[in-house]
Amino acid sequence: MIPHNITSNDSQQTTCESITDARPRLHDFRGKAAVITGAASGIGLALAEALAARGVDLALADIDAHGLDAARARLASTGRRIFTRVLDVSSDADVRDAAAEFEAELGSVHLVFNNAGIDMSGELASLSEQDWQRAFGINVFGVIHGIRHFLPLLRRHGEPAHIVNTASGAGFWVNSDFPMGAYAATKYSVVALSEALEQELSGTGIGVSVLCPGPVKTPIAEHSIRASEQFKAIVAAGTPPERVASQALEAIRAGEFYIFTPTRMRPRLEKRFGRILDALERAPDMTNGPATT
Ligand SMILES: NC(=O)c1ccc[n+]([C@@H]2O[C@H](COP(=O)([O-])OP(=O)(O)OC[C@H]3O[C@@H](n4cnc5c(N)ncnc54)[C@H](O)[C@@H]3O)[C@@H](O)[C@H]2O)c1
Repeated sequence: MIPHNITSNDSQQTTCESITDARPRLHDFRGKAAVITGAASGIGLALAEALAARGVDLALADIDAHGLDAARARLASTGRRIFTRVLDVSSDADVRDAAAEFEAELGSVHLVFNNAGIDMSGELASLSEQDWQRAFGINVFGVIHGIRHFLPLLRRHGEPAHIVNTASGAGFWVNSDFPMGAYAATKYSVVALSEALEQELSGTGIGVSVLCPGPVKTPIAEHSIRASEQFKAIVAAGTPPERVASQALEAIRAGEFYIFTPTRMRPRLEKRFGRILDALERAPDMTNGPATT
């Protein structure tokens, strides 16, 4: 299938590598503009640096004003246009207003990274109502607000574009080594949102990826109010964020949907999916209509 805005004549020289490949591909980042949430630190900041190095202008959004100032200073020498805005991704109005500002400032936007996120460690029953609101407000509604307000910027120009939502390896498997079930619940949601978005945008020329990192060496645990010592140690030994960023950009070019960074979770995922498939084997057969008892 050919994305709606690409004809078979121009596909060879420009944006679409193979007209038989249905996956939308944004190959050439140079001169494009990107929006990144959670851009003041960690993976978001590494994405900003990797994109600027590839000739991309940037709209950087974060709740941390000082961090954003530092990020802008760090990126000043790249020569790219860098626009920063303090926002809280859990606020629909903040994200809506930011989207309008980013478009006014940068013009057409071709890349969106819904990346802002927080840790939420602790056993489920120990978390307060406020903890739950915060975890889902930032990790899930942050992505929902990005879909509601940043996606229209990608639709506006009709050119190939890409949206990346940051989930986690914890979006597929609940780590039993330390309690992070609430965090996992938010990240499972981000995976589902992303899978739905990919289906809904099929054939539009807008690609979707879900970034599912294993441990990444960022200050995420320092920004957490109750990260366990085990979580801190695992993050400290994680993949450098620069590597995650360059892997993500290559995956966008390749039209990859699931982006996994180095992780040891494969055996645990096999066990989980094996258990699910085994349970399905035991489910009543629906060939002759659903069983009633
Ligand atoms: N570090 C890891 O091991 C790891 C692994 C898997 C997934 N992730 C995910 O990657 C993403 C980035 O995390 P990171 O490791 O770079 O952490 P980080 O703490 O270094 O960066 C997260 C950024 O999000 C910002 N932020 C937090 N709440 C916000 C809000 N309400 N509005 C706007 N910005 C807000 C923070 O200020 C920070 O700059 C998160 O979604 C996280 O869940 C991280």
